Amino acid sequence: MSSKGTSQRINPLANPLKGSITVPGDKSISHRSVLFSAMAEGTSRVTGVLDSEDVRASIEAVQKLGAEVNLEKMPDGSLAGGITGWGSAGPKQPDSPIYCGNSGTTARLLMGVLAPWEIDVRIEGDESLSKRPMRRITAPLMKMGVDFDPAGAETLPITEHGTAALKAISYDSPMASAQLKTAVLLAGVYADGTTTINEPSVSRNHTELMLPEYGVETTAAERTASVFGPAQMTAAEVVVPGDPSSAAFLVCAAAMKPDSAIQIENVSLNAGRTGFVRTLERMGAQIETTCTGMSGKEPYGVISVQYTPGLKGCEIPGSKIAALVDEIPVLALVAAKAHGVTVFRDAGELRAKETDRLACVVEGLATLGVDAWTEGDDLFIEGNPDLCAPEGMVFDSFGDHRLAMTWALIGLCGSKPIVVDNFESVAVSYPTFLDDIERLSE
Ligand code: S3P
Repeated sequence: MSSKGTSQRINPLANPLKGSITVPGDKSISHRSVLFSAMAEGTSRVTGVLDSEDVRASIEAVQKLGAEVNLEKMPDGSLAGGITGWGSAGPKQPDSPIYCGNSGTTARLLMGVLAPWEIDVRIEGDESLSKRPMRRITAPLMKMGVDFDPAGAETLPITEHGTAALKAISYDSPMASAQLKTAVLLAGVYADGTTTINEPSVSRNHTELMLPEYGVETTAAERTASVFGPAQMTAAEVVVPGDPSSAAFLVCAAAMKPDSAIQIENVSLNAGRTGFVRTLERMGAQIETTCTGMSGKEPYGVISVQYTPGLKGCEIPGSKIAALVDEIPVLALVAAKAHGVTVFRDAGELRAKETDRLACVVEGLATLGVDAWTEGDDLFIEGNPDLCAPEGMVFDSFGDHRLAMTWALIGLCGSKPIVVDNFESVAVSYPTFLDDIERLSE
C-alpha cells in the first residue's frame, strides 16, 4: 500500500483491562455461512454474522450471482436473517466482474463455489489481493475440469469458467490451507464420486464441520478430508460464534497490561483456531478456556486471561502454525516483551497473507528496537521485557488489518502514545476493535 491512509494516534489505555466482553462473529465461519447458504436450495437462517468489509465482499458476491440476501444489522452489531440460495438452478451469469476487495477467503472459496457452473465470472481484488497466490486454488480445480483465463495465472484478475462434468479427485496439497481445502471440497460437492484432500499439516476444519449442516456428507481425519458427490445442498441454520482471531488482540493486551483480568465470552473454541491460547499458556500466561456449548459441530465458550509478569519465549513447531497462523503478528509482539527467544518454525505461509507478514513483523519490531529475524521460513524474536516505545513512534499496517491491531497494542498497553498508519484496515475483520478494548479499560 503506497498511500498513508488514516494515521491513527493510539493513546495508552487509562486502566487495566477488566471484565467480560463478546467479540464480533468469526470471520471464517461467517464467510462460509454466506457462501454455503447461497449454494443451497431454500432459505437458510444465519445469526451472529460478522459485519466487516471482508464478509461484505462475500455477501455482495453471492448477491451478484443471484442469491437473495436479507440480513439486518442487530443491536450487537452482527448481521442476521435469511439467505435464499440458487440451489440446483445454479448462479446467474453476472453482468460485471466480482470484486473481492481485500478478502482472500472470498476469492478463493468462490472459485470452488463457481466450479460446477458453466458461466464466465471474472474475479478481481484490491492491490493487496491482486498480489496473493491463486494458482494453489486453480491448479486442483483445473484437474477437476474447470477452465481459468489466463490458464495458470498466479494472480487476480482471473476469469473462471466452470463445468457441469466435474471430476472427483484425490489431491495432495503442497501447503496446509483451509482456503485451498474448502475450494476443492466445495467443487467436490458437485463431482461424481469421492473428492479427497490431503494436507501436510492440519488446517482449520470449519468446512468439514459445516457442510453436513447443509446436507452434504463429509469425512475428516488428521490432515485429510473428503466429500461425497454429487450432493444437493439444502438450507441450514447457522449461529456464528465470536472470532478467536479478534479475541486474540484483547487476550494478548490483557496478558501484557499490568493488573488486567478479562473474559471473552461466546467465542469459538475450535482447536484449529486456539493455538494462540496454547502458545500463551506455554509462555507462562494465566489463561484458560471453558467450553459452554456447541453451535452445530463448532464448540464455543469463554477464554479467561490475566496479566502475567515474566512471560518466557518458546518454540512453535511447523505442525502447529496453521492453528495460529493469523495470530503470529500479535504473538510476535508478546514474544518481543517476553524473556528469551521465541521461534515460529515453518511460517512461510505468512508471506502470502494480506502483506508479507514475516517481513512486516520483522520491520515493525525493528522500529521498536527488537531483534527479530528470519532464517528460511523460521521467524525468531529475541524478547526484551523492558521494551517501551517512545512517544509518537510511527508503525505502518501497510493496509493489513492484523498488523494495524498488533501495532496499536504497543500504544494501548504502553505508556506513550504512538501512531499507526493505514489504521482503517481494521474494518476488514474487527471494525469495533478500538471501542471494545477501550470499553474493557474504563
Ligand atoms: C482462512 C484460512 C486461513 C486464514 C484466513 C482465513 C479460512 O488461510 O489465514 O484468514 O477462512 O479458511 P489459509 O487457508 O490460506 O491458510
